[in-house]
Amino acid sequence: RVFGSDVDASQSVASEIAALIRQRAAEGESCVLGLATGSTPVRVYRELIRIHREENLSMKHVVTFNLDEYFPMQPDAAQSYVRFMNEQLFDHVDIPRSSIHIPDGTIGRDGVDEYCQQYEDAINVAGGIDLQLLGIGRTGHVGFNEPGSEVDSATRLVELCDITRSDAANDFGGLDNTPELAITMGVGTILRSRRIRLLAFGQHKSAIVARSVQGEITDSVPATYLQGHDDVQFALDSAAASTL
Ligand code: GLP
Repeated sequence: RVFGSDVDASQSVASEIAALIRQRAAEGESCVLGLATGSTPVRVYRELIRIHREENLSMKHVVTFNLDEYFPMQPDAAQSYVRFMNEQLFDHVDIPRSSIHIPDGTIGRDGVDEYCQQYEDAINVAGGIDLQLLGIGRTGHVGFNEPGSEVDSATRLVELCDITRSDAANDFGGLDNTPELAITMGVGTILRSRRIRLLAFGQHKSAIVARSVQGEITDSVPATYLQGHDDVQFALDSAAASTL
């Protein structure tokens, strides 16, 4: 879907999430959301906070799983996704802290494989993800599933591409300080979500959006795997859609 602006696209996706939370609550069920970081979903979170405050949206029965985290990463570091999510959403709504899951960047290298398996298990125990929010990186990554990621990949420790690291370098005060590794949900984890909503805004995303939507399905552009999902939407502004 191509929207008039990033604000319109974000409001549409936030309204859908709010409706889903209300629907699941009416069914007596919790709503399991897969959440993303980066600049792209910020307006969705802002709109959800507004709906929570002004339209009495209770998020008490929402369970969240974030896609990824740099590794290693302390939760209170300026660049941590824990800190990002707290500032952008969790500090402003009533999701119980015990219902929030973000990959732990403090896990020791030896325990990381077991930790990743536990993250997968926790998603399954919660009943699977009802709606997964995604951004997209310039390499075509979703989460931190870089080119070469397999369609059935699970939550794991991955190496970041040079393009991804250079896009993040500003946040870390230079490439030398930018992590080389991250923990990410896998492509398989993402594809098991019942709905997927990917947001992309701006001219700089247009080439990778076109390859993802219209290109052949290939591990060199992991977002092309989304073509195989039966309830996926790319919510774009006109600049991000301009190469389609
Ligand atoms: C990082 C995140 C991705 C995000 C991407 C794009 O790599 N791990 O989840 O989609 O950045 O970021 P932005 O939305 O700022 O363009």
